Amino acid sequence: MTSTHGNHDIQRVGVVGGGLMGSGIAEVCARAGLDVLVAESGTDAAATARIRVETSLLRAADRHKLTAEEAEAALARLRLTTDLGDFADRDLVIEAVAEREEVKTSVFATLDKVVRRPDAILASNTSSIPLMRLGTATTRPAQVIGIHFFNPVPVLPLVELVPSLLTGEETEERARAFVSGALGKQVILATDRAGFVVNALLIPYLLAAVRMLESGAATAADIDNGMTLGCAHPMGPLALADLIGLDTVAAIATSLYEEYKEPLYAPPPLLLRMVEAGLLGRKTGHGFHTHP
Ligand code: CAA
Repeated sequence: MTSTHGNHDIQRVGVVGGGLMGSGIAEVCARAGLDVLVAESGTDAAATARIRVETSLLRAADRHKLTAEEAEAALARLRLTTDLGDFADRDLVIEAVAEREEVKTSVFATLDKVVRRPDAILASNTSSIPLMRLGTATTRPAQVIGIHFFNPVPVLPLVELVPSLLTGEETEERARAFVSGALGKQVILATDRAGFVVNALLIPYLLAAVRMLESGAATAADIDNGMTLGCAHPMGPLALADLIGLDTVAAIATSLYEEYKEPLYAPPPLLLRMVEAGLLGRKTGHGFHTHP
């Protein structure tokens, strides 16, 4: 094992959850030449996850980010399973299930039982749940760390690395070497507090846009055009909320509000009603905008 950034000792990666983030994480790991096993809850969800990765690889090949042969080789390195027991030999597992604390702690308790390698790193892609709670769901909190990617994972270069108070130095160094050395992503180090760096800044902005829409001050199109055309953001806040998923935005806002008790983090009623209605953004075809 080595702890220099260019070198890393991780070859076998497990990803729990093949949704938006999990499939993106699996894709970048497979593109980096690693052996990737993705766990999903059932065979249909597993098949959908594979299609997500395949579609994204084809898009990347179309845009000349990699050759058709490289895309094919990456796909060949990806396997799907519905049994977390298959993760016994993984050097690193990245959990990317729904942003719900009880679901994530249960995954970590299971990983603790099934992952056999004594030095395996158990990581979470959580955006807002304290790593401490995930670490203490296991018997090895020194090996638990946050590795938080950004959507779309193959496109955005940032990863937030989030050690908890109990994370070991070696785990932090190995995770950093993996993210920057194997995946070529840029790392920022964040403290284990809800929202870390990016979401603590981004979510209040997205919620402010929802409140602006809710108050009737401007249309969704005008709010988004305001920020894309007036501030050169790649997408407006409501389109971005649709991309992240309104359920995820609401879940992160709730975690932030619970942690800091400040009104700017409270999810506005319109956001909560849209989640209850199943209008979740791109993944359901409807959110603040319609997505064909
Ligand atoms: N693989 C590799 N590259 C890809 C790709 C793929 N599957 N799909 C697209 N790309 C590349 C394109 O080739 C293009 O690169 P170049 O500029 O070098 O040509 C670039 O990505 C942009 O792609 P497009 O031109 O097709 O698309 P676009 O210009 O409409 O951009 C977008 C789409 C990348 C989503 C852009 O709008 C964007 O970056 N939006 C902001 C997204 C953002 O803020 N995400 C953070 C969300 S917060 C989060 O994720 C954390 C959380 O916890 C909630």
